[in-house]
Amino acid sequence: MCGIIGYIGNKQAQPILLNCLGRLEYRGYDSCGVAVSNSSIEVYKDVVRVGALRKASPRIKGTIGIGHTRWATYGEPSQVNAHPHCDCHGSIAVVHNGIINNFQRLKHQLISEGHNFVSETDTEVIPHLIEKYYRGNLEEAVEAALRDVDGSYALIVLRVGEPRLVAARKDSPLIIGIGDRENFIASDVPAMLDYTDRVMYLEDGDIGVVTPNSIKVRSDGMEVTREEHKISWSVADAQKAGYEHFMLKEIHEQPKVIRDTLGEYVQATEPVVDLAVMRDEGIESMLILACGSSYYAAVVGKYIVEELLGIPVRAELASEFNYFSRPLARTGAIVITQSGETADTLKAIKRLKEVGCPVLAITNVVGSTASRIADQTIYTRAGPEISVAATKSFTAQLMVLYWLALSYSQVDIKRLTDIRRLADMIMGLRQLPSKVQQVLDNEGKIMECADYLSAYEDMFFIGRGINFPVALEGALKLKEISYIHAEGYAAGELKHGPFALLGSDTPVIAIVDPDSTYEAMLTNIREVQTRRSPLIALAEDGDEAIGELADFVITVPRVDAIFSPVVNLVTLQLLAYHTAKKKGCPIDFPRNLAKSVTVE
Ligand code: G6P
Repeated sequence: MCGIIGYIGNKQAQPILLNCLGRLEYRGYDSCGVAVSNSSIEVYKDVVRVGALRKASPRIKGTIGIGHTRWATYGEPSQVNAHPHCDCHGSIAVVHNGIINNFQRLKHQLISEGHNFVSETDTEVIPHLIEKYYRGNLEEAVEAALRDVDGSYALIVLRVGEPRLVAARKDSPLIIGIGDRENFIASDVPAMLDYTDRVMYLEDGDIGVVTPNSIKVRSDGMEVTREEHKISWSVADAQKAGYEHFMLKEIHEQPKVIRDTLGEYVQATEPVVDLAVMRDEGIESMLILACGSSYYAAVVGKYIVEELLGIPVRAELASEFNYFSRPLARTGAIVITQSGETADTLKAIKRLKEVGCPVLAITNVVGSTASRIADQTIYTRAGPEISVAATKSFTAQLMVLYWLALSYSQVDIKRLTDIRRLADMIMGLRQLPSKVQQVLDNEGKIMECADYLSAYEDMFFIGRGINFPVALEGALKLKEISYIHAEGYAAGELKHGPFALLGSDTPVIAIVDPDSTYEAMLTNIREVQTRRSPLIALAEDGDEAIGELADFVITVPRVDAIFSPVVNLVTLQLLAYHTAKKKGCPIDFPRNLAKSVTVE
């Protein structure tokens, strides 16, 4: 989604803004631009990558500026629709993330008052409203303008001749980066990491006035203090470290991510979250909500919690839940979101809280909106995930779910059905980093299979039980980065429709669980083979029955079935990565996709 940056200090703003925009590329965008203020405001923007904008834009002098990467919502990707947007006289420039719901009405009103609009965007009403209300104080004009606005925003305002930037947020993240005689404002932390690791998170309704040496924040007309935080990620964490793509680096980081996330919680000396609340409130069922890949982690979570705790669990898409479902009484809610900013997921949290349902958020981003509005938060320790396609964040989410189920079984002892199972689980978790490393060591074989798959245009991923959501996530990974049409299916469902599509040009990738669902999957594989679809199987080393039936076998290390999603999914991530690479796709920034989706 859109990314924003603002700089004010004693250095030339333009190169800093362009560098920061480069760090925001991972969010996904179609156009970008910068505005720098000196004796006038100069704006350069276009439907290009940041690197091309850097080459094309002339050097602009000035130590105050704003920049933006746009992901089109209102108005097609075009130079005129790219941000920054200005008022009639080009003396006020604005970058904005979010949506202005009532922009059509505001635009008509402003046009009738003599304002000229050039773009189709909702954002353009903001500089015009500020122009309308400006009476010598920029902050007051921004406050007045926002009173007219219905919608979500993170925005930065620049006015010619004013030695300050004004920032405002509502339902869209905005962070102030604190430097030495310079300050930054950005939509997310990686944008500023080259310059500072000291940040302050703005809250909904905040208006910040930032100069090179001061930061003042107001909320409801009162001055407020926002705590300073130190970011533990380093610039190196947000760089490729010699890997060709962020996605490959992030896939390879997974043994460490598992160790870091488990280390944080399994060895915690103080309670990470108060699980006794759930027992005391008599929680009898659970609801897990999320979007995208996090939703598939939620579905794996359903299997984990139901198996270990015997509690019924509903896993639902937050985007659907918001319209059609209701939480039941005595239900505990878990909300999973890597970014902590997905609009549908945040809406679901607010809705759950309105009906008094306790919400536990699992997120990777400290200080994110989800972490601030949920009742309790558990952080995944995945580090910054830059590639649009989620990989290590998914694995880290599973780790938290395993840990949560195990911990709750100890808090609510009546849930603890089998003490030996608990000990096996802990042992299994400890072995997971080395099992995942074995998958990574098998990359050569996975590449061979990717070469083979890259010639096809449609395929199915099938799984059963806890590996059904893995099939869904495996198909999602492939389609989003390689643009090959892929569908994830419960293996038993192929015969209820997809059989009509099977044939020699439609490969099927089968995730074989050597335990409980093995025989049923073998039957499904035979059915696929009869229909002449090329068959790729993820199976245990030495499985002769599968070896005879499959065209291609990728071996995965043996783990307890409950942990098999981890090793299978890492295999499928590599398969998707190498297939996309073979096809020459822009792996880290797939077309039309965004890392963080802040609109419903
Ligand atoms: C976008 C990203 C996905 C992610 C989904 C949910 O679509 O491209 O990778 O899974 O949003 O994001 P969240 O931050 O809520 O996990």
